[in-house]
Amino acid sequence: MKERIHSKFAELFGDGGVFYAAAGRINLIGEHTDYNGGYVFPGAIDKGIMAEIKPNGTDKVRLYSLDYDAKASFGLEEADKPAEAWACYIFGVCRETIKRGGKVAGFDAVFAGDVPLGAGLSSSAALESCFAFAVNDMNGNGLSRFDLARIGQSTEHNYCGVMCGIMDQFASCFGKEGQLIRLNCKTLEYQYFPFNPKGYKLVLLDTCVKHELASSAYNFRRQSCERAAAAIKKNHPEVDFLSDCKRVWLDEVRSEISEEDFIRAEYVIGEVQRVLDVCDALERGDYETVGEMMYQTHFGLSRLYEVSCPELDFLARLARKMDVTGSRVMGGGFGGCTINLVKDEYYDAFIATAKDRFRSQFGHDLKVYDVVISDGARKLQ
Ligand code: GLA
Repeated sequence: MKERIHSKFAELFGDGGVFYAAAGRINLIGEHTDYNGGYVFPGAIDKGIMAEIKPNGTDKVRLYSLDYDAKASFGLEEADKPAEAWACYIFGVCRETIKRGGKVAGFDAVFAGDVPLGAGLSSSAALESCFAFAVNDMNGNGLSRFDLARIGQSTEHNYCGVMCGIMDQFASCFGKEGQLIRLNCKTLEYQYFPFNPKGYKLVLLDTCVKHELASSAYNFRRQSCERAAAAIKKNHPEVDFLSDCKRVWLDEVRSEISEEDFIRAEYVIGEVQRVLDVCDALERGDYETVGEMMYQTHFGLSRLYEVSCPELDFLARLARKMDVTGSRVMGGGFGGCTINLVKDEYYDAFIATAKDRFRSQFGHDLKVYDVVISDGARKLQ
């Protein structure tokens, strides 16, 4: 990938560029908890975005995306938002850097990625983090990695229309090889956990389906959670987020909120507890409990939060039948991947059967990605 990027860069912009990269992410457990002030448990992966970049001495940004085989350029004022959706991520990063007092000089860049799009592996966070890191570094802005993660998140909010939490950008900026990160999304305290389950593999099965309107459905979920938390706050003023709520407090307001808001909140309150249970289980090396929690999360995401789809449910059900330790939809949902914790001895049979049955059921192939936990945003040598 580096060579492909460099040869296009040399053709368009000449020599002297610097390489930067940032990763996509997986999440072991803690889904839709980030914007509810709960815990998440992600790690960066060995798939990401790479860019070669060079200041160009103007006040314009000129981009070339190898994957789209397309050019875009824009100025750095708010009114200069580009028409290309992919370029808006980079425009947003520049604008959010400026809003935080950072300097952004014009630059040229060629970039490419190997995070499958729409698979729930946060290709957009990888893109944001790569450019947020590069812009910070090239301009000597001295912003922290927290700032860089927030720049990516605000880009989603203000330039891409997704009211996401902080998990993806955090994982992409803070990832470390071989380590998962438990993040408290309310306090932003975090802790690295070495993740190397002996005798098990972590594997993703990509349904290769991505549902339209996923971002508006995502934003509706968030609104449901905020309405439920606001209703509970009337009785319990200390509540800022659903993650602060006891289950019984939700029951108290059942008649005041819609049934839909109730089941969304019911899922979130359960999920916040499951992350803690998984961390305890990991400390004991108890992978069976980790896996059981993953199945419970899948059930909640499918039946209560309603962000699954027939393809994902099919794969989680098959995993259960084939004695896979844990399986669930990963990321925002509405398509994308299941994440599976599989004993080494069951791995081959599970993958072969899943491929086979999936194809006969849905008429297209799934994709398999082995998870390698890797470093987050960085400058390359
Ligand atoms: C998407 C969002 C994240 C998070 C997950 C669900 O990936 O970008 O902030 O909410 O969905 O856990």
